[in-house]
Amino acid sequence: MNSQPRRVEHQQTDRGNIPVYAVGTVEQPWASYSRADHEVWAQLFRRQREVLKDRATREFLENQERFGMSADAIPKFDELNQVLKKGTGWEIVGVEGLLPDQVFFDHLAHRRFPVTWWIRKPEQLDYISEPDLFHDLFGHVPLLLNPVFADYMQAYGLGGVKAHGIGPEALMNLTRLYWYTVEFGLINTPEGLRIYGSGIVSSKGESVYALESDAPNRLGFDLERIMRTRYKIDTYQQTYFVIDSFEQLFEATRPDFSPIYERLASLAAFPAGDVQPADRVFHRGTGEGWVKSGDV
Ligand code: PHE
Ligand code: CO
Repeated sequence: MNSQPRRVEHQQTDRGNIPVYAVGTVEQPWASYSRADHEVWAQLFRRQREVLKDRATREFLENQERFGMSADAIPKFDELNQVLKKGTGWEIVGVEGLLPDQVFFDHLAHRRFPVTWWIRKPEQLDYISEPDLFHDLFGHVPLLLNPVFADYMQAYGLGGVKAHGIGPEALMNLTRLYWYTVEFGLINTPEGLRIYGSGIVSSKGESVYALESDAPNRLGFDLERIMRTRYKIDTYQQTYFVIDSFEQLFEATRPDFSPIYERLASLAAFPAGDVQPADRVFHRGTGEGWVKSGDV
């Protein structure tokens, strides 16, 4: 095997916390995980399985079981890939950290999901400002076994390549879609609202907040509305968007986005916490504790 992969993380500089990008793929250096690494996985796994019992969509929880994920040890990418390739033709590839947009889109377009090989430190159980193995594997990989969601993710990758060619505003519109679905999406089920977004399921605090707090808005999914909505990267979200099904999500995103990008280019973006007259409101947030500035 090649040399030990690097652990590419944000760097604290005099200009703040700067993201650093990796590019290539790496073998998962499984034998090099320490006892402490496996223990971080075990603690987070147990804690989130408990928190998510009646909060995550059943699909997500069942798929984790189909993968055989457990608290025992950090999963081996090779073993997950045997299940994943057979299931939906996706595969996991190891990476050293955040990827540049185009590299990320190209992976998705080829049904490869990049997973950070390293796991957070014990003092980062509650919060880490960038994706690590726990977020990527526990949070993103389970739904790749869902055929409709799997196709959505690939279509998103292809759409990303296209948006990148159109320009930075189109890319921003598309990034917001990813943020409010893949990372922070809720789904309406017969049992009530449930979580499917990876950014929520990998956070204990936000798993409770997204469903139970009175503070955030919970609004019906609307493609163009989402593409115009700014978001928060360093606090819980002020608004969550609710889909009825993964089929709805896939169908709504099937049309060519080019005319939408063009139309949106002349329209102002919405602040993260605003409710618009046309919104389907599941819950109107009280706005308690909101930081008004710093929307992306
Ligand atoms: N239909 C989108 C486009 O034309 C592609 C896409 C599909 C984007 C699914 C996101 C999700 O760009
Ligand atoms: Co993510």
